[in-house]
Amino acid sequence: MCGIIAYIGTRDATPILIEGLKRLEYRGYDSAGLAVISDGQVRVERAVGRVHVLEEMIQQDGGLPGTLGMAHTRWATHGAVNQANAHPHMDDVEKGHGIAVVHNGIIENHSVLKKYLKDKGHVFQSETDTEVLAHLIGELYKDDLELAVQNALKKVHGAYAIAVMCRKEPDTMVIARKGSPLMIGIGNDEYIVASDQSAIVAHTNQALTLEDYTVARLTRDSFRTTTVDNVPITPEIQELECDLGQIELGDFEHYMLKEIHEQPEAIRRSMQGRIDTATGNVVLGGISDHANELINARKIVMIGQGTALHAAMISEYLCEELTRIPCEVEFASEFRYRNPIVEEGTVVIAISQSGETADTLAALHEAKQRGAHSVGLVNVVGSTIARETDSGIYLRVGPEIGVASTKAFIGQVLVSTMLMTYIGRRRFLSTEHVDRLLGQLDRIPSQIEMVLQLSDHIKDAVARYINRDNWLFLGRGVNYPVALEGALKLKEISYIHAEGMPAAEMKHGPIALIDEGMPVVFIATRNSQYEKVLSNIEEVRSRGGHVIAVATEGDTEIASLCKEVFYVPDTMEHLQPLLTVVPLQLLAYHATVMRGHDVDKPRNLAKSVTVE
Ligand code: M6R
Repeated sequence: MCGIIAYIGTRDATPILIEGLKRLEYRGYDSAGLAVISDGQVRVERAVGRVHVLEEMIQQDGGLPGTLGMAHTRWATHGAVNQANAHPHMDDVEKGHGIAVVHNGIIENHSVLKKYLKDKGHVFQSETDTEVLAHLIGELYKDDLELAVQNALKKVHGAYAIAVMCRKEPDTMVIARKGSPLMIGIGNDEYIVASDQSAIVAHTNQALTLEDYTVARLTRDSFRTTTVDNVPITPEIQELECDLGQIELGDFEHYMLKEIHEQPEAIRRSMQGRIDTATGNVVLGGISDHANELINARKIVMIGQGTALHAAMISEYLCEELTRIPCEVEFASEFRYRNPIVEEGTVVIAISQSGETADTLAALHEAKQRGAHSVGLVNVVGSTIARETDSGIYLRVGPEIGVASTKAFIGQVLVSTMLMTYIGRRRFLSTEHVDRLLGQLDRIPSQIEMVLQLSDHIKDAVARYINRDNWLFLGRGVNYPVALEGALKLKEISYIHAEGMPAAEMKHGPIALIDEGMPVVFIATRNSQYEKVLSNIEEVRSRGGHVIAVATEGDTEIASLCKEVFYVPDTMEHLQPLLTVVPLQLLAYHATVMRGHDVDKPRNLAKSVTVE
């Protein structure tokens, strides 16, 4: 995905755009660019690398004055990471109208359009699909930017959030969305357009989220929204709930560390008003209108990608245990392209932090088309998955900015637990069972606070293995997805190769990897599989592997088998992932800092993946 910020008003646009880009940088950070209209010209600066490189370039060039402008931070999809491919893109240099475009998404029919435009004499400067759109708008432009954008979008297939301006209309900006998020912040005689609210809240808390297929024309003191066929749309203005404190680093060095430490509070917030330990009730307003579909489901299919998929895998254990409804978990990307069996009574649960992941969204569409009832477990309020599911539960863990997902994972597992308890209670779960579970759940935030105190111990342990390039993460049962999550965290930010798998699977091949001193992390808490895990630990030890265990407080037996033990408090087996994942998040964090990599913006990644 990419980040878009645009401004029209009375203030100097460039500082607002640069500040906005910094807030949106987590959405993509291989290159950045900015354009303003000043003195009847569109002036553009683009740079490879982070936003600060662009900022320095603009300063060196004497600044970019102007009160209408747009900027973009890129995660490359079409074309290499270089200055020519960075946004904004312009229409034709020779015969163009000075039209600049920033875009998040993919124009799928760009090749056909490019050929059509080339035949008409257009000359392209980049390899991007976005430049094709800029030229197309230019080709259709007849002194009305809004109309040209509407007409161009009728010819486009794919996903887009765009902002467009034209040298010939220095008091107008046109924006549009289909499939990629875009919001308008409404200030006093000014509008701030952005991919998400993090770039808006510093200026105003009044905003509207553009719906798909909407085009908006903004001037300095008014705006109107229409369809691409120019039919007026009445927008709904909302008050933003997020405040600056939630998106600023505060005393933390990195967002990931901040978000790891926010987990206890995030869980408390997410449970607030949803769990009544006195009556043993789970109250989930977002699904109550569809309770029957859930209670009578014949099959539950859980979909997601990356960390969200790991949360879904944990939910599968919860679902079977608490509801006894058959449950399947699948990579959304695979579900989408199989011929999945969706029979009457199938419920599809899409899990996603961003609510914008293209694979998950596409799988959701497929499931809905085949007649499934759909539920979204999503963090970002108003995101596409949240809006397109029949019912849903927000994670309520607050904005997650670090690319490595941490508190969203905890939120996904927590919300799944509440959902499965809600369904189970209405099927066969006894009040005693629910009381015990909710009582234990209530203790999780303070138990995480205890685990967070292990941070220095984990850091010391990591230091001893920081030069090892291969790690294994092993677990059984509900802690097997935690092993996958531990490995994903380590590889995605520290670039250390790590594999997660069921502990029993190791002896079917991967055991050949184990040599003297190889770090092997076991999630070895006391539960129904504990004895089996101990046997697997012995298998690793006898081949020279160094065992690092996440174990249950008070388990002295395991200490003699391991080089390091990170103790977590005891809880019910099915709640253990909420505790056992925390040391693994800290492990990945410390390893990354020690290796000198960018914790919050790992190479090649972006916060959410909006392409299939
Ligand atoms: O926004 P989503 O939860 O749908 O994102 C899914 C994955 O792309 C995401 O979890 C990714 O794996 C993270 N980088 C993991 O830390």
